[in-house]
Amino acid sequence: MNILDIIANKRDAKELSKEEIEYFVKGYTEDKIKDYQAAALIMAIYINGMNDREITDLTLAMAHSGDVLDLSRFGTDVVDKHSTGGVGDKVSIILLPTIASMGVPVAKMSGRGLGFTGGTADKMESIPGYRTNAEIEQFISNVEKVGISMITQTMNLAPADKKIYALRDTISCVENIPLIASSIMSKKIASGANKIVLDVTVGKGAFMKTREDAQKLAEQMVRIGNLAGKEVRCVLTPMDQPLGYAVGNSLEVIEAINFLKGDMPKDLKEVVLELGANMLQLAGKGNNIEENKLKMLENIENGAAYNKFKEMVQNQGGDISYLEDTTKFEKSKYISAVVAEKTGKVKEINAEEIGKLACYLGAGRVNKEDTIESNVGIILNKKVGDEVVENDFLAYVCANDEIKLKEAERRILEIYKIY
Ligand code: URA
Repeated sequence: MNILDIIANKRDAKELSKEEIEYFVKGYTEDKIKDYQAAALIMAIYINGMNDREITDLTLAMAHSGDVLDLSRFGTDVVDKHSTGGVGDKVSIILLPTIASMGVPVAKMSGRGLGFTGGTADKMESIPGYRTNAEIEQFISNVEKVGISMITQTMNLAPADKKIYALRDTISCVENIPLIASSIMSKKIASGANKIVLDVTVGKGAFMKTREDAQKLAEQMVRIGNLAGKEVRCVLTPMDQPLGYAVGNSLEVIEAINFLKGDMPKDLKEVVLELGANMLQLAGKGNNIEENKLKMLENIENGAAYNKFKEMVQNQGGDISYLEDTTKFEKSKYISAVVAEKTGKVKEINAEEIGKLACYLGAGRVNKEDTIESNVGIILNKKVGDEVVENDFLAYVCANDEIKLKEAERRILEIYKIY
């Protein structure tokens, strides 16, 4: 078997055998297959697709390309969560400490930014000192000690996905059901939880632009999960405009901290509560979804969720004085307000465009090895449905480069559709 034949088969829209898929995954993980060959195969998969059997084989090969975690010491009710990606999506940073404060053990490995969407690991790293890297033993001992740990994918958890994920980001091969389903489910299978809640985002700022596609992706992931003996629940959530107000790494962390202190933007609150209530139900902490939401709100309002977040940050080396006083987060060099040129109602703020703009400002990566700027991004001041009067502030641009600042100001005016 050789990689050229495998690439040619998929290029010609043929079905790949289990052996061919395993050969590729193993060879790429071990650096025997080059980036350019993997890129060619991934592009061929993107264009010509994969059937259910191929997707399952790809998922399992990636899941078993490294360690498979055993979380059984925490009982059978450990619930994992994953999102298919969004713009302004700081849900995990809020939701996970909240449910951890209710006695559900949380062992969460998060991704980095992908395409125009942000990644929780990048966001958490904007808290000075916070370590997102941990070996598996450390990760487990964090959960034993404080009930929650949020890290990035360890080197040896689904390493094949880690490489393919980073590669896809730089070859425009992100928005694809077989690739997304196998990427997410390989990590979820490897990370050990038996119960998984998946946030399947749908809309202009999601990889799935239509409900039908989101439904297809959801069904695909449930099928793979069931085959691997996991209980998987998908919640479809809207992602047309950015979630909440902040887009950009430290900007989103600040919004998440404020949320945990009780300042909850409506759209963000709905998503956090819906996903959390489902996680609590799967964890055996309450069958009634509406009651679960109220319990979560109680733990946010009485400070338990925020205190759990603080405990986790401190346990992973983060400077909690930044949580107590968010004005300590380093500001970008330039912060400018974009003002409305006319009076009317905000009809649309395309989340993908905002996500791309945040990446352009430095919040995301263009090349695999790029470092990100944690303090740049966009803070919306008006959201869809808001009335605006000429000269009202629509949004703030946070930038470290003057040319990018000017370009972003210009683009914001185009992105806000006001009628
Ligand atoms: N999240 C993932 O982990 N993988 C994808 O492919 C998309 C979103």
